[in-house]
Amino acid sequence: MEKEIYPIFSKMQTREEKEELLGQKGITIWFTGLSGSGKSTVAIALEQALSREGVLCRIIDGDNVRCGLNSDLGFSPEDRKENIRRIAEVCRLFTMTGIVTLATFISPTEEIREMARTIIGKDDFMEVFISTPVGECEKRDVKGLYAKARKGEIKEFTGISAPFERPAAPDVEIDTSTVSLEESVAKILEAAGPRIRKR
Ligand code: ADX
Repeated sequence: MEKEIYPIFSKMQTREEKEELLGQKGITIWFTGLSGSGKSTVAIALEQALSREGVLCRIIDGDNVRCGLNSDLGFSPEDRKENIRRIAEVCRLFTMTGIVTLATFISPTEEIREMARTIIGKDDFMEVFISTPVGECEKRDVKGLYAKARKGEIKEFTGISAPFERPAAPDVEIDTSTVSLEESVAKILEAAGPRIRKR
């Protein structure tokens, strides 16, 4: 619930009204994992699967947000925290609008992910850990960043020269080196179940 700081809030449509309009419930599905682990690929496939069921989704992705909203931020621990704080606030807005929001950010520490969970609200937050091992991510090296990180051309690169803490209790864990894209989507849909279905 929004705080009644300004009287205008009582005139704005409620979340419930938005959800009624869309015929669905809002939630944030938060993907965490290394660069190149498959977060975006799985989120895109999930978006397509949900869209086929008539569910309105929105993907919010690391590389895009860092070109716009967060173009002033780098990869120090402080900047990563601010990156995730702003993103979580955006996810909250989408979720409160009744949209199934798929956030794909490395979000490398428990502290950062806990902050996102608190901002969005634990009832509206589902954590998906894409646990593809760093060796596999480096082998794929889709963006050529691991090679640069190894050469020291990129500092504080997650998994190479900056830490990644495994989530303690994710709702879903998927290693894309052993699980197919189809199975990955099925696993998330199964876990999310009635939380993301059309009403
Ligand atoms: S987070 O740590 O703050 O959550 P975020 O998901 O926004 O990271 O951005 C990660 C993306 O930025 C990576 O997929 C990669 O393309 C790019 N990137 C550039 N420099 C780094 C770095 N030092 N560490 C990790 N990712 C980096």
